[in-house]
Amino acid sequence: MLRIATLLIVFFSLSAAEAATVMITGASRGIGFEFTKRYAEEGWDVIATSRTPADDKPLQDLAKQYDNVSIETLDVTDHAGVDALAAKLKDTAIDVLINNAGIAGGRNTQDFGNIDYSVFDDVMKINVLGPLKVTEAFLGHVAASEQKKIINISSSEGRLSSVRGSRQPFYRASKSALNMVMVNVSQHPAVKEKGVIIGILTPGFVDTDFTAGLPKQFMKTVETSVSQSMVMIEKYDVEMSGKYYANEGEEMSW
Ligand SMILES: NC(=O)c1ccc[n+]([C@@H]2O[C@H](COP(=O)([O-])OP(=O)(O)OC[C@H]3O[C@@H](n4cnc5c(N)ncnc54)[C@H](OP(=O)(O)O)[C@@H]3O)[C@@H](O)[C@H]2O)c1
Repeated sequence: MLRIATLLIVFFSLSAAEAATVMITGASRGIGFEFTKRYAEEGWDVIATSRTPADDKPLQDLAKQYDNVSIETLDVTDHAGVDALAAKLKDTAIDVLINNAGIAGGRNTQDFGNIDYSVFDDVMKINVLGPLKVTEAFLGHVAASEQKKIINISSSEGRLSSVRGSRQPFYRASKSALNMVMVNVSQHPAVKEKGVIIGILTPGFVDTDFTAGLPKQFMKTVETSVSQSMVMIEKYDVEMSGKYYANEGEEMSW
């Protein structure tokens, strides 16, 4: 009896020690929410961040359902807020950091001939400077973990080698810029020497609020997209750091 009890204690303490931690930006909806749900189901410790958690009922409900989900406030454009959260979590090792938060900036606002130039700053602040700042602030947390992965949700819309059609130049430029910024980060000595892996991943064309109003016939469900991304995130290793992958597995040209 005593032996069984000892074995159970060893089993449960090993399981607890092995739970990996993921932190996700933009966890209120869409792809970020689905990542939160799926990693929670898989038993990870999930730090789900949102700019307005009090308004995010589905996220609040998820945190009630899973005690391995904690919610933190994070607007990726608020650099002081990013630093404050990094300080609050200074003793937390983060195995996988997913820079997911992003905006398109609207469609009509980016029509050539009728461009609203004020949109550019918002798109760049959220899609490029946000992930860069979060990566800088949380590098130590990721470096202290077992898996050491920072995954950036990019887009095939950021590819210069296969531009088809003229649409959303600010959004496309932001994802090209995100790719360049993250390739740079991947080659920085502070990142390489710590063995931190920088992933650049495209989720496909996904049915979320982001693509509302677009034809659905070529879209993936958010469940499919996130399943594919989770497989790729698991595969990401040092050799793949700074490279650009579709979440279906193929390496992409820039
Ligand atoms: N859906 C697609 O087909 C597709 C394709 C390629 C790439 N992507 C990329 O995938 C990512 C997620 O897209 P999605 O489809 O899930 O979009 P979504 O449903 O519109 O969700 C966007 C998320 O980003 C958050 N967010 C926006 N601004 C933020 C800020 N300043 N700080 C923190 N969070 C902020 C939103 O929070 P609030 O709820 O507070 O607004 C929301 O949680 C984006 O980076 C997008 O570019 C999507």
